[in-house]
Amino acid sequence: MIVSILESEEKGARVTDLDDAHAELVDLCRRIEWACEHDVSVATILERIRTFMIYARWHFAAEEGWMRAVHYPNAIDHQADHTRLLQDAQDFVASFGDALQREDGSAIATYFRFWVNRHMSEKDRSLRAFIQGAD
Ligand SMILES: [Fe+2]
Repeated sequence: MIVSILESEEKGARVTDLDDAHAELVDLCRRIEWACEHDVSVATILERIRTFMIYARWHFAAEEGWMRAVHYPNAIDHQADHTRLLQDAQDFVASFGDALQREDGSAIATYFRFWVNRHMSEKDRSLRAFIQGAD
């Protein structure tokens, strides 16, 4: 069954990857916040926002690959949450248009942090438990 698909060592590596990716997302939020609180150009703040989005997209795709590999039963719902998060984030950033100000960057970072935390505490928590319990 699952044990043949996911050996114990591989499970540990996937959980570590999951934790590392989440820590990276939180760190990328902090980098946006830091830039907004310091004398950093708006172009740099926008670059950090783009970096967050690129990393989130990459991480979600990797996570969806893991879910398929272990036949995670809630994969469709989880993937839909990823899609919704990315779309909401993109829409929120776009809503500021070309007139984005430094304080808008803080609002975006706060929003990103909120959705990362919510997703991690709900969807990713279930996935993590499934991976750890798959034996
Ligand atoms: Fe996820």
